[in-house]
Amino acid sequence: MAKILPEVFYNEMKKLEPRYPQRKALILPALHEAQKVYGWLPSDVMDEVAEFIGVHPAQIREVASFYTMYNLKPVGKVHLKICTNVACCLRGADELMDYAEKKLGIKKGETTPDGLFTLSEEECLGACTTAPAMMANDEYVENLDLQKFNDFLERAKK
Ligand code: FES
Repeated sequence: MAKILPEVFYNEMKKLEPRYPQRKALILPALHEAQKVYGWLPSDVMDEVAEFIGVHPAQIREVASFYTMYNLKPVGKVHLKICTNVACCLRGADELMDYAEKKLGIKKGETTPDGLFTLSEEECLGACTTAPAMMANDEYVENLDLQKFNDFLERAKK
């Protein structure tokens, strides 16, 4: 199989390998590194990760489809993930999600036509004490309200 993952992926893996004596434990960091390259995990990339780790490609797909942090289809430049689990729901997350859909003109799971924003619903983001919470790529936005959401969008557009 011809390699498509760039050298930077393999260099990162070389650094990480000594920390993971059990090779299968490298699956999560390998998927992270692969996703950093493409922004999502195309099928042939997952196949290459499987070959690199030494497992069946189905095992890689099982892991990638279990965790919501892995994108199985292309996402926008900014991936907005609004938590709608209990703590956030009790503090208005459903209304925020409705607002976000209207404001962006898309439904959850979709990407704006300009490719800038993808909107997703998340289970707990681990920020229950500052609910409602949203992640935008790697950034947390806590105590989210309409004003903070709008401010974030304006900042992200610049
Ligand atoms: S319930 Fe939303 S962050 Fe935990």
